[in-house]
Amino acid sequence: MAFTKACSVDDVPPGEALQVSHDAQKVAIFNVDGEFFATQDQCTHGEWSLSEGGYLDGDVVECSLHMGKFCVRTGKVKSPPPCEPLKVYPIRIEGRDVLVDFSAAALHA
Ligand code: FES
Repeated sequence: MAFTKACSVDDVPPGEALQVSHDAQKVAIFNVDGEFFATQDQCTHGEWSLSEGGYLDGDVVECSLHMGKFCVRTGKVKSPPPCEPLKVYPIRIEGRDVLVDFSAAALHA
């Protein structure tokens, strides 16, 4: 495990998302009522940023391009057209820092 600071908790208000980059990876950080989650930023259905072009409702993000939905906790598809889950990243909070292990993307769904 190699946790790296991705952003501050203050950068991502509740119900919002933020795109962070690490090497070539783009990762979306979501704040679900004070709980933070990290997934790949790109929708698995197309080249679309979920942090910039998605709507977070509870722990589900809706891609605004074709209205596909994913659970940001697990990466699991909640509504088609996407059929591939999102990769999720281990995340933890230390003080005001949001730390992500960018080397440990995983598929849980
Ligand atoms: Fe996201 Fe099509 S690109 S649902």
